[in-house]
Amino acid sequence: MTPRSLPGALALGALFAAAAGAQPAPDGKQISAQGANGAPACMTCHGARGEGNPAAGFPQLAGMGGRYLEEQLNAMANGSRVSPLMAATAKALDPAQRLAVARYYAALPSPLDTDRLAATAMHPARPADAGAWLATRGAWDKNVPACNQCHGPGGIGVGENFPALAGQPAAYIAGQLRAWRQGQRPPGPLGLMPAVATRLSEDEIDAVSAYYAGLPKTAESASASAGAKQ
Ligand code: HEC
Ligand code: HEC
Repeated sequence: MTPRSLPGALALGALFAAAAGAQPAPDGKQISAQGANGAPACMTCHGARGEGNPAAGFPQLAGMGGRYLEEQLNAMANGSRVSPLMAATAKALDPAQRLAVARYYAALPSPLDTDRLAATAMHPARPADAGAWLATRGAWDKNVPACNQCHGPGGIGVGENFPALAGQPAAYIAGQLRAWRQGQRPPGPLGLMPAVATRLSEDEIDAVSAYYAGLPKTAESASASAGAKQ
């Protein structure tokens, strides 16, 4: 984090001065459970373990890349990622608090059953199943590689830069793809996602979002969908 302007440098200086005093470093876990600077507790929407809330469309955060999460918080704070529900919260946190809470969520275990998801990706897709086809094969006639090429088998996510798609609510995934089409989310690494999103039709966006949201994500949801006895 390099200060790019004098006011920025002064603000950072003040921050470090505060940190050098009695002020303890921000605690990401505490922010998630209690909020900070008037921002509400993250847990109330993102779940007690960062697992998200599919019914409400709130994304999962646990186990995502720390740098990715921090960049999203910064983008929602500066408005380049338009998010009515998150803007005030992201803005209320200072940069050190955003970093701390991003690291906290990155370190939480992902609720995804990655073995099971990777196996799902091996199921042959039919071209008529537009969502599964896009995810596993892509649409080469319009230069869209398979989503799984970047997001990992079954959309489990890869490293710091490629977030998981499995485990995210359909409305959330579709909302992000449309945000890139409308310039309401920063392009991200190499502008990869605006290039993908602008080439998809509205129907394809809905189909691929439903596909990822419908994958058996966790051991729990897998046994629930198999109708296992409790
Ligand atoms: C009122 C509910 C609510 C609260 C409270 C809340 N969030 Fe969110 N959060 C959302 C929603 C909704 C989104 C999806 C935003 C969008 O549409 O772009 C989101 C998105 C995010 C994202 C982006 C995830 C991704 O995959 O790109 C991060 C990071 C995040 N929130 C962190 C936090 C943190 C940290 C806190 C606590 C300080 C918090 N949120 C509190 C509702 C909430
Ligand atoms: C060439 C690589 C690449 C391909 C192919 C790709 N993505 Fe992505 N995707 C990315 C990167 C990189 C990001 C992170 C963007 C950022 O940091 O803002 C991302 C982020 C996303 C997000 C946001 C996740 C979140 O938590 O907010 C969604 C949704 C998404 N991609 C959906 C898709 C879908 C659906 C496809 C297939 C149609 C796809 N992607 C194909 C590279 C790719």
